[in-house]
Amino acid sequence: MTPKLLALAGSSRDGSLNFTLLKAVAEMARTAGAEVTVVDQSALEFPLFNQDLEARDGLPPEVKELKALMLAHDGLIIASPEYNSSITPLLKNAIDWCSRPSSDDEESMAAYRDKTALLVSASPGGFGGMRALNHLRDILLNIRVAVYPKMHSVGDAYSAFGQNGEITDHETQRRLVSLVTGYVEFAGKLG
Ligand SMILES: Cc1cc2nc3c(=O)[nH]c(=O)nc-3n(C[C@H](O)[C@H](O)[C@H](O)COP(=O)(O)O)c2cc1C
Repeated sequence: MTPKLLALAGSSRDGSLNFTLLKAVAEMARTAGAEVTVVDQSALEFPLFNQDLEARDGLPPEVKELKALMLAHDGLIIASPEYNSSITPLLKNAIDWCSRPSSDDEESMAAYRDKTALLVSASPGGFGGMRALNHLRDILLNIRVAVYPKMHSVGDAYSAFGQNGEITDHETQRRLVSLVTGYVEFAGKLG
């Protein structure tokens, strides 16, 4: 089966290293046979989750849009920065909003259940954001996402990409292609 994958970045920053990495990984996934939709970076800029706000107004339209996209895809590719050893508030807030039901009869965790996910990160630091990926993996596993066991963190990331967002280091490119190809196969089997 051709997996349909939704690609999300945990940073809405102009010039985001993780969005650059996400686009490179999305292209690798297409080459490996997946259909990939890359979500615009600003699409995750939701109001900060608050249960009173949710009770009063329900889910904001932009949350419903992202949930609909998630429901229409088999898997997620997420590139997340590391903020103080964990994931960004932007990404956590989006995960929390999308975990909420849109109606009384919606299944629990509808946007996440039976999905697979590939996690990558980029950071100017030496660990490349790996500690954030460990947290992200825990969060997703607990909300019924089958996270691909292998992940990749690109360290020293300011020098990792060329002018067109291409990965400059051959070994990093090789490892990412191998990771992404393995994940697309996994997603195709489980999806
Ligand atoms: C609040 C904050 C905390 C950060 N903490 C970490 C950290 O724990 N580890 C790390 O490798 N980089 C850390 N950084 C640096 C980010 O990796 C860097 O800003 C990176 O470019 C963010 O990803 P982006 O380029 O996709 O926006 C932090 C940055 C900010 C703003």
